[in-house]
Amino acid sequence: MGNKFDRISKSRPLIVDFIGGALNHRLNFGGGIGQDLAKAVGIKSGIRPEIIDATAGLGRDSFIMASLGSKITLIERSQIMHDLLADGMKKASNAGGRTSEIISRMRLIYGDAIELIPQMSTDVIYIDPMHPLRQKSALVKLEMRQIRSLVGEDIDQIELVKTALHAESARVSLKWPAKTPLPDAVPKCTYQIVGKSVRFDIFINSLKKR
Ligand SMILES: C[S@@+](CC[C@H](N)C(=O)[O-])C[C@H]1O[C@@H](n2cnc3c(N)ncnc32)[C@H](O)[C@@H]1O
Repeated sequence: MGNKFDRISKSRPLIVDFIGGALNHRLNFGGGIGQDLAKAVGIKSGIRPEIIDATAGLGRDSFIMASLGSKITLIERSQIMHDLLADGMKKASNAGGRTSEIISRMRLIYGDAIELIPQMSTDVIYIDPMHPLRQKSALVKLEMRQIRSLVGEDIDQIELVKTALHAESARVSLKWPAKTPLPDAVPKCTYQIVGKSVRFDIFINSLKKR
């Protein structure tokens, strides 16, 4: 009998691996505080903001942010994604060394960020929802297609962004496909960091500095 993760993919199961593979490569060669993700959440020399990752997924973005020294609270509302992530974090924690030291800055919560965020306070809220389907869907990575088959479309992503913009946080950073406009319902961002395939829309609310 297979376990609950078997239905994700027969050919290549979806796993959370903080120890080897691509993530480890990015740890060593990803550009440190110079990479777009770090700039998007305000990590810079001498500054390590506390971050809520409202859409934890496979925890990769959180792991990179934690590797740079920030404390991250990860929120995931899909039970199966949460369990995959919890499993990956446990293995990484047991691995010892640098990996386990990074994981010690990550705290995972199961629940819906739309409900949880209004009761929380942090320096930065980071949001990376399931992005709208691109026409060239072959370009979308296998892992993202696997996540989509589990969690669907995140149809309430605009509600999540609006909730974050009202929360006790000086900065909201939204990861979005580089060339896809945001729906009109989202207020204009303060500035953008645009990469090849994704961009970060950054909303600053200086009145809410902690
Ligand atoms: C595109 S994935 C995030 C990938 C992640 N940034 C990473 O590095 O692995 C989006 C995830 O956010 C979760 N999600 C979407 N809306 C959420 C919400 N309101 N509260 C909690 N989790 C949410 C989905 O279940 C999905 O697992």
